Amino acid sequence: MNAGPLIFLASFFALATSWFGFVLMPQLQIGRQEPVEIVGQEYPPRPPGAAHQGEQVYRANGCYYCHSQQVRPADFGTDVARGWGGRSGAVQSVAEDYLYAHPAMLGTRRVGPDLANVGLRHTNELEILQHIYNPRALMRGSMMPSYRYLFVTRSLKPGERPSPQAINIPGIPAGTEVVPTVEAHQLAEYLLSLHSQAILFETPPPPAPPTNAAAGKATNAPAAAPATNSAAK
Ligand code: HEC
Repeated sequence: MNAGPLIFLASFFALATSWFGFVLMPQLQIGRQEPVEIVGQEYPPRPPGAAHQGEQVYRANGCYYCHSQQVRPADFGTDVARGWGGRSGAVQSVAEDYLYAHPAMLGTRRVGPDLANVGLRHTNELEILQHIYNPRALMRGSMMPSYRYLFVTRSLKPGERPSPQAINIPGIPAGTEVVPTVEAHQLAEYLLSLHSQAILFETPPPPAPPTNAAAGKATNAPAAAPATNSAAK
């Protein structure tokens, strides 16, 4: 018997169902998400141009080898307990957060902390630049490499004043100035732009704890109305 047509049909069926499940269904469910409006503001906010370029610097320097950008739900791991989530209660990352990330740098390893919400933990550009210049100056024994080539370090001539763009770096010898390059500023801008704290339809806040007066009544009304999502209508 010629089994050719049967094998063809079986493999076609196997490939077609996996394409349906892994490509078509996700595309139908979340492929056309659009920014949502929350109290007159768009979420996710469009990153400023410098942050967009900083994303390329992030990628070019392989920061994603050690840093992820995805917060898992509380019952999936310790992400929330470590304070990586930005949302109160339902804190995991959702597809909406990555609307402007092409490609999204989710990362697969966590040698360093998750950076999905690093812009909430650090709001000061100088602090980020100092950390990138020499992680061990701020965090003893840090395994993160120094990215000194993103800065111009030079010795000042006697009597020469440091450039106004020079930044204060702890522990560098006197008479030396460190000026961040454009890439370093863009990278810092990108990190500052990473914060996904908006409460969305997919991440409703947890039910409010019952108060004494309301005890016995239904108390699982959301604390704040979540934004409606175009994909969920
Ligand atoms: C070899 C792994 C590795 C690489 C590559 C790496 N990091 Fe890190 N990073 C770490 C570790 C470990 C820490 C935690 C210790 C510390 O704070 O230095 C860290 C911490 C950080 C923090 C502080 C996070 C917080 O929650 O306070 C930032 C910001 C950061 N890294 C940015 C970067 C950027 C930007 C790059 C790419 C230019 C990068 N890292 C590349 C390992 C790495």
